[in-house]
Amino acid sequence: MGSAVPRIAIFVSGSGSNAQAIIDRAADKQEYSVVLLVANKAKAYALERARKAGISTHVLQRDDFYNTTGLLELMKQIDAVVLAGFLWLIPPYLLRAYPDRIINIHPALLPDYGGKGMYGDRVHTAVYEDECRYSGMTIHLVNEKYDEGRILFQAHTLVEDCADADCVAERVLRLEHSYYPAVIANWLQIMQPR
Ligand code: GRF
Repeated sequence: MGSAVPRIAIFVSGSGSNAQAIIDRAADKQEYSVVLLVANKAKAYALERARKAGISTHVLQRDDFYNTTGLLELMKQIDAVVLAGFLWLIPPYLLRAYPDRIINIHPALLPDYGGKGMYGDRVHTAVYEDECRYSGMTIHLVNEKYDEGRILFQAHTLVEDCADADCVAERVLRLEHSYYPAVIANWLQIMQPR
């Protein structure tokens, strides 16, 4: 991306533990800068994390997000978008503004346990009930469908000894925190300048 540090926006819906890991790596290594955190819920704890880190925040209204392109005004300086537990489908105008520049993390080994309605505990419960030997996480580019963009990275973890779905969730989340920030840094490094 030339010599400038890439500037990213993180989109979230919930707690934002991945957002925190991404913010922490930015502070530690300065490979990229987190300049905006966008949430689709005013109560998302991730907003609190961003404020503590001095990052600008924005709370989305559903109608504005899907029926206007106003968000792009706020994103003029943003090079790439990182989804970290963001539950809304990305609208076409945003995909067009950021072609191959929106990345997502999914808490399972796609294409298994993905698609509409497969998020959070639903994923881990399904994996647990199917008595899977492994679960894991997938980092992929975002397109117009849930969880179907090109896969960039996957990591596995053994879950066959888990006694419940919470155990699966915990192991997968640990993987997410340890890989997502590094994969983002690499992805930004090989990205062509806009
Ligand atoms: C993660 O499991 C991520 O894979 C999924 O949503 C969860 C977000 O967790 N897309 P957190 O808000 O980062 O703690």
